[in-house]
Amino acid sequence: KTPEPLILTIFGASGDLTQRKLVPALYQLKKEGRLPGEMTIVGVARREWSHDYFREQMRQGIEEFSDGIANEELWNDFAEGLYYCPGNMDEPESYDKLKNFLEELDGKRGTRGNRVFYLAVSPQFFPPAIKQLGAAGMLKDPLKHRLVIEKPFGKDLSSAQVLNRIVQKVCREEQIYRIDHYLGKETVQNLMVFRFANAIFEPLWNRNYVDNIQITVAETVGVEERAGYYESAGALRDMVQNHLLQLFCLTAMEAPNGINADSIRGEKVKVLQSTRLADIKNLEKSAIRGQYTAGWMKGKPVPGYREESGVSPESTTPTFVALKLMIDNWRWQGVPFYLRTGKRLPKKVSEIAIQFKNVPLTIFPSAAQQTNPNILALRIQPNEGISLRFEAKVPGAELRTRTVDMDFSYGSSFGVATADAYHRLLLDCMLGDQTLFTRADEVEEAWRIVTPALTAWDAPSAPDSVPFYEAGTWQPPEAEFLLNRDGRRWRRL
Ligand code: BG6
Repeated sequence: KTPEPLILTIFGASGDLTQRKLVPALYQLKKEGRLPGEMTIVGVARREWSHDYFREQMRQGIEEFSDGIANEELWNDFAEGLYYCPGNMDEPESYDKLKNFLEELDGKRGTRGNRVFYLAVSPQFFPPAIKQLGAAGMLKDPLKHRLVIEKPFGKDLSSAQVLNRIVQKVCREEQIYRIDHYLGKETVQNLMVFRFANAIFEPLWNRNYVDNIQITVAETVGVEERAGYYESAGALRDMVQNHLLQLFCLTAMEAPNGINADSIRGEKVKVLQSTRLADIKNLEKSAIRGQYTAGWMKGKPVPGYREESGVSPESTTPTFVALKLMIDNWRWQGVPFYLRTGKRLPKKVSEIAIQFKNVPLTIFPSAAQQTNPNILALRIQPNEGISLRFEAKVPGAELRTRTVDMDFSYGSSFGVATADAYHRLLLDCMLGDQTLFTRADEVEEAWRIVTPALTAWDAPSAPDSVPFYEAGTWQPPEAEFLLNRDGRRWRRL
């Protein structure tokens, strides 16, 4: 399907996200013939750029961060639809000017009043931009006007509720596209196909067979140039409330009635509503934070978080978080979900590991015949794929067992590189499909789950130190205890 002709207005057009992700993804869609001929993109930011300068910047972004231009004719056609309109997010006049400009473009490009407004700006600009767009009447038509909001959606439950109210005052839920780029990843979408298009796993997917589930999103990068934002966010807000809880939902939710936005989002909300931190009174048994100190990555020394530029030398911002979550419903009663994420960990790897219960009685008692529990690992990135770990007999006269993997890999089965998440999300938004975007109640439930940890860690009485881990190692010892206490271990990745 191709979207209707429309104007996509990007606020924050001089920023990184626009140049690295959004415009390269749009150009990729153009190459695939998925954009209407009338497709028009308007960049808005404070700097006084010309249309041509904006086009040049976007071209550089495509060349640097994607497969490149490939075809000059195609680029010229795409670039003709690129415009720039300088504006200040706080000033009503900027919105009037923008409105007139967009109406002018409608006449010139044939975009028929269809609008998508994309807020790729820092979160303090969300409320003024949304209010002003509303006041200027730019969101009033539910059929023609859409609003895309980047993360972070709030910084805790109450700010997310306030933001939802601001948005809901000026438009309907059907017009709002809250981005969580993890939902645009192929392998994340495959989770649903894997669970609900195969019959053999469903009977095992519950408390009777599953011992625990571990979700890991490990990054090797540090805070990079983002200390300004990260210092007040930390790993719980930056990664867990959104990306990890989305992976969690897709793993734990019930089968939706169908593949449509409302039934899928409804099931996600249901499972979130039944979810809580394992032990709210004793947080050390359910929420662990950590911060990296100086260490080594790929043979090179790297500074600790507190030494990074823009970070306070006394910062207690977590760069690592591990949670133990419990779900109070029939399917998952008593099954812990362990979630962890961190920066400066030894490997970039994201996976969901379903660890099954052990055999009821071992009839292979010798040391050479150990049985390990079966694990089904869904690899989100890199080496996207799925593997099932089981025990096998080592060939030979003796009876020895060994753990082996049965492996499916996207690369070798489909032979195509998986597209960038924004590619899918932008297309869906232009087509009006909200399935891969988060709904108001979903965002709020996710904040509710992490609130006890946020409150404790942000409290003025909170200890002024955090558990540390050396850059290039997996986690602070406290995060090991979280599982050891339950007689379990983190999976070695
Ligand atoms: C972003 C976070 O949402 O996700 C970053 O703000 C993080 O801190 C990034 O690095 C990870 O995304 P990906 O797609 O590289 O796993």
